[in-house]
Amino acid sequence: MKRRMESDLPKDALRTIQEGTVAFTYRGVLCQKNPFDLALYSRLLFETGARSIVEIGSSAGGSALWFADTLRCYGRNPRIVSVDVNPVSGVNDPDVTFAQGTALALGEVLPESFLRELPRPWIVVEDSAHTYEVTRAVLRFFDPWLEVGEYAVVEDGIVNDLEGAEYRAFENGPNRAIFEHLDDRPGRYEIDSHYCDYFGHNFTWNTNGWLRRI
Ligand SMILES: C[S@@+](CC[C@H](N)C(=O)[O-])C[C@H]1O[C@@H](n2cnc3c(N)ncnc32)[C@H](O)[C@@H]1O
Repeated sequence: MKRRMESDLPKDALRTIQEGTVAFTYRGVLCQKNPFDLALYSRLLFETGARSIVEIGSSAGGSALWFADTLRCYGRNPRIVSVDVNPVSGVNDPDVTFAQGTALALGEVLPESFLRELPRPWIVVEDSAHTYEVTRAVLRFFDPWLEVGEYAVVEDGIVNDLEGAEYRAFENGPNRAIFEHLDDRPGRYEIDSHYCDYFGHNFTWNTNGWLRRI
């Protein structure tokens, strides 16, 4: 039976957490994450022993900075690669590489020779357009690269729970893409309820989106 995709967080709480999330800053840089997901990522990064984070969707670069600081805090030598259609300026970190390109053609910006050099384990974070098409493209691109025990985190399935035309416009893209990707690749991924449900059923903006390669 398929997992429910909805979050059990009350609608009023979703709205106010979303308002805070989109304005949240880390070290003065916009970092659009909420306390649930910062806590869950801090555990995921520690528990997996992650060395590389490949993030699709940089925005201002605050999340890439947070990933780098967190992994350094754990004594790792991190490699953070963050791709966006728009350039990132004003964030300079020796362990973070920002690359400009589209999620729909990741091979152009992340060539094989570059990816092969990234230390394992990896965490892939899809946090770009949140449409069905883009989410599917990102999951497809990384499928042959992900090794057992690594994760692809699909962000912002919560758009389906948030009220308002701007969220309906995503047409439940992340959740639809997740289920189709899992159906297409039986036995290769599991939705990791340890992270999805740590604080309550889908008390995360990445509803059903913590995908473990098995
Ligand atoms: C939600 S923001 C990223 C937030 C950031 N990861 C954070 O946590 O602070 C989404 C970003 O995805 C980028 N984006 C949208 N569509 C894209 C695409 N097709 N390819 C690459 N980046 C895209 C936007 O320019 C925007 O900066």
